[in-house]
Amino acid sequence: MPVELRSDTFTQPTPAMRQAIANAVCGDDMVGEDPTVNRLEQMVAERLGKEAAVFACSGTQSNQMGVWTHCRTGDELLIESTGHIANYEGGAPAVLSGVSCRYVQGDGGLLSVDDVKGQLRPPNQHFSPTRLLCLENSTNLGGGRTYSLQQFADICQWAHEHDMKVHLDGARLFNACAAQGYDVAELVSHVDTVSICFSKGLGCPMGSALVGTAEDIARARRARKLFGGALRQAGIVAAAAIHALEHHVERLVDDHANARLFAERLAELDSIRVDLERVETNLVFFEVDAAWGTAAQFSHLLKERGVHINPAGGPQRLRACTHLDVSEADVIVAAEAIRDILSTTVTESATAIGTYG
Ligand SMILES: Cc1ncc(COP(=O)(O)O)c(C=O)c1O
Repeated sequence: MPVELRSDTFTQPTPAMRQAIANAVCGDDMVGEDPTVNRLEQMVAERLGKEAAVFACSGTQSNQMGVWTHCRTGDELLIESTGHIANYEGGAPAVLSGVSCRYVQGDGGLLSVDDVKGQLRPPNQHFSPTRLLCLENSTNLGGGRTYSLQQFADICQWAHEHDMKVHLDGARLFNACAAQGYDVAELVSHVDTVSICFSKGLGCPMGSALVGTAEDIARARRARKLFGGALRQAGIVAAAAIHALEHHVERLVDDHANARLFAERLAELDSIRVDLERVETNLVFFEVDAAWGTAAQFSHLLKERGVHINPAGGPQRLRACTHLDVSEADVIVAAEAIRDILSTTVTESATAIGTYG
């Protein structure tokens, strides 16, 4: 079996999760009669301290339901320049909601009030109304970084004072909570809607939820139907999500410890650049010296040694992601594979790399 560090989306359902799926009691969720989906939605709303939640197929879908809920055609949203909603969801804000995205440079995918305060525009026919601020916690392409409670509260307050709604992309929200030690309900009390994913660190085969006020979630249900995400016997997958919330949240700290161990091993290697201070959760971004080829070529060399790590967001940059199916021994194997590649001479390696075009 290869060491799978491409993403936490590669996790396989555990035997216990498969059992929960097999035992799921189902109904027709489109008419609100799937007891397992209803239980999951109630459980999520309670855990996040919000009025309501709606189950969705994917993180993309729940994020875009959030955008549709808060905005009207012709509005714009503000987002950090690496934000998933604006960069990696197929242009969906424009396609599904008629909303444009204005990118703001932050740090590690995180925004501060200083970053956004110059972005305000007066009400004027030339401008799209800025209706929504989208945040991400933990960040993905920003580097697996997390907000402090204070920075998060401050930027949400700034947005609300300027008549914007706030949507949090919480695909890895429980990772952020595990890293920072804050209570999930306390953090999300500052936002209007939040999406969470069951299919990443929580290890489910699919699923997400959008959480917020009863009014917003009622509107989001209409978006879910429009986007083709209203399902029938969805209890089959909701059962996996319930199992994950009960069994897979506390263990996220293990993924973070493995990510740190991996990063520490990489930091010992001359041709690799990794910033240990910025490794906060289950994502490790690192750069390989150009003498060893591009990130894509390096990724091929690793694959030959049974280690899957993808290039990410830059010619020399790669991202490793730890999760439920990655053990401490696995990250040691992966770090050793990198050491092994770097122990060949540059000439040998460059020749090998050349064969991959
Ligand atoms: C931060 C973030 N938001 C949203 C998503 C979208 O999730 P999905 O792939 O389930 O649509 C991802 C996927 O990796 C993500 O990393």
